[in-house]
Amino acid sequence: MSRRTVSRTYPIDRIRTEFPILGTTMRGKPLAYLDSGATSLKPQVVVDAELHYLTRISANIHRGVYQLSEEATVRFDEARDSVRQFINAGDEGEVIFTKNATESSNIIAFGWGRKFLKTGDEIITTELEHHANLVPWQQVAAATGAKLLFVPLDPVGRVSPDAVESVVTERTRVMAVTGMSNVTGYMPPLRDIAAIARRAGAVFVVDGAQLVSHHPVDVQSLGCDFLTFSAHKMCGPTGVGALYGRRDLLEAMDPLLYGGDMIVRVGKESATFKGVPDKFESGTPNISGVIGFGAAVRYLQGIGMEAIAGHEQELLAHAVRRVGEVPGVAIYGPVTEQGVAGGVSEPGGILSFNLGDLHPHDVGAVLDGEGVAVRTGFHCAQPMMQFLGVPGTVRASFYLYNTFEEIDRLVDALNKTLEVFS
Ligand SMILES: Cc1ncc(COP(=O)(O)O)c(C=O)c1O
Repeated sequence: MSRRTVSRTYPIDRIRTEFPILGTTMRGKPLAYLDSGATSLKPQVVVDAELHYLTRISANIHRGVYQLSEEATVRFDEARDSVRQFINAGDEGEVIFTKNATESSNIIAFGWGRKFLKTGDEIITTELEHHANLVPWQQVAAATGAKLLFVPLDPVGRVSPDAVESVVTERTRVMAVTGMSNVTGYMPPLRDIAAIARRAGAVFVVDGAQLVSHHPVDVQSLGCDFLTFSAHKMCGPTGVGALYGRRDLLEAMDPLLYGGDMIVRVGKESATFKGVPDKFESGTPNISGVIGFGAAVRYLQGIGMEAIAGHEQELLAHAVRRVGEVPGVAIYGPVTEQGVAGGVSEPGGILSFNLGDLHPHDVGAVLDGEGVAVRTGFHCAQPMMQFLGVPGTVRASFYLYNTFEEIDRLVDALNKTLEVFS
C-alpha cells in the first residue's frame, strides 16, 4: 500500500523496506516508532558496513603495515571525508570523531573554554538547551569565574536576534545555542546569531544533535565556529559522534584526553602532540561505529536532506492538526503559533504535548501497549521544562521513515488513553 505523502516523489515505501526493524512488532502491534529525537532507527546499509568491518577487516587503524590494518584505515578515513562533505567542512582536520554530541560539547567547553575564559567573561546561552550544551558550560563558568547569561525567550520559546543583542556585552566570549530544540523542534535563527557573535568577537557553538540529522547544514555558510552531533540520531550507530571546529580554534585548544595515537614523541617527562584531528582522538576509536557513521551520512545524502526535511514538515503539519484535535491536549512551542509554514524559522519534526493533567509516563505506557513508541519526561532539558511550567511532556518525533498512518495511530492511542483514565 502506498503511504500518503504530499510529495509524490519522496520514496517512503522504499525507505521503509531499508529499515529491518520496521517489519517488527512491539507489544504485538506493528511498531510505530516516534522517538527518533532520542535515537534513530538504523538502515541495513549501516548494519552491513559495520558487519563488513567486524567480520572481514577487524584490524586496528593507523598501526599496522599489513593489508587489513591498511584497509581499516582507508575505511575510517573515508568516513571522515563523508562526514566532512555532509556538513561542508573546509578540511578533514576540522572533523573530530568523538563518542557522541555530549563528548563533543565537553571538548569545546574544557578544551577551549577552560583554557581561554577568564573571570568576568560571559557565555551566552538559552533555556532551550539540552543538558549536553549547558552543564559543561556551567562547569567551565564555575572553574574560570565566567558568567552564564540566558537570552530571554518569547512566550512560546523563540529566540529573536534582538533578544540575543540584549544580552551581548563587551565581555561576551561564547554563544552556545541549540540548532534545534529537542523539546519543541524550534530552530533558532542561527545565521543571525552567527552574525551577532562575529560582531561581538565571540565563539559561536551550535549544538547540532537534532539539527544535523534533520536539515541540510553547511558549516561554512552558517558561520558557526563549532558544531556538535551524534551518529545515532542520524541513522548511524551509538557510541560515535562528531565535533566540527574551525581549524585555527582547534589548533589552539587542549585535548580532553591524552595517550596513544595522538602523540608525535614521548619522553620520560613530556610529550609532543600531533595536529588536528589526531590530537583529539587518543586511544583506539570506535572503528566499526565510525565506518557505520560514514555509511549513514552517505545513505542520508542519497535521499537528500532537503527531501527528508520536507517530508518531516508534512508529517509535523499532520501531527499538529490531528493531535491538536484530541480533547484536552496542550501542545508546546512555536508550532502552536506560527503553524508549520514557517515564520521567523522553520520547526523541525518534533511535537511536545501533554494530555489533560495525566502524567506523561502514564500516557507513554498506554501508547506502548498500542505499539506506539514516544518519549516521555523532561528530555534532558530541565530549564526548558521550567520555562514551559511543566514537569515533563510527551514527545513524538519524526524522521525520514515515518508515515501519516503512524501519526493517526498515535492519535487513536491518545484517544484510548483518555478512555483508560476516564
Ligand atoms: C539537542 C540535543 N543536544 C545534545 C544531545 C546529546 O546527544 P548524545 O546523548 O548523543 O550525546 C541530545 C540528545 O538527545 C539532543 O537532543
